[in-house]
Amino acid sequence: MREDALLYNMGNRRVVVFRKEHFNAAHRLNNPRWSLAENKKIFGLCNNEHYHGHNYELIVQVTGEIDPDTGYLIDMKILSDLIKDEVLNKFDHKNLNLDVAAFENLNPTAENIAIVIYDLLRNKLKASLELKIRLYETERNFVEYPA
Ligand code: NI
Repeated sequence: MREDALLYNMGNRRVVVFRKEHFNAAHRLNNPRWSLAENKKIFGLCNNEHYHGHNYELIVQVTGEIDPDTGYLIDMKILSDLIKDEVLNKFDHKNLNLDVAAFENLNPTAENIAIVIYDLLRNKLKASLELKIRLYETERNFVEYPA
């Protein structure tokens, strides 16, 4: 060991890592308990009967303590594969209302999509890791869950 080597103590240091992903999907915002006129009034263009699409940007944020053996909070390849399996393969180039079971009875707003993504990933991550989802529906409109 070099005599000027520094001994870092990495215990209890919390870090945040981010993985950015992207998917395209169609949706329609609609409340089946309301009339067409009411739906048009509340949801406007997003109520279009023949759906419309968004280029969603997804940022998955994981917080916790670094594993002293690897120096990683989480192996980013594992995180990337997890997002691919649990989210992108299910959502990308899909009609969220028709193709994703979670939205059969749930309006696919950005808020609800973020919560569904959170739930899909939460169970697959170690309990000691905190998870936060940021979902951009447009460049200017985005949501985070949990608040
Ligand atoms: Ni929309």
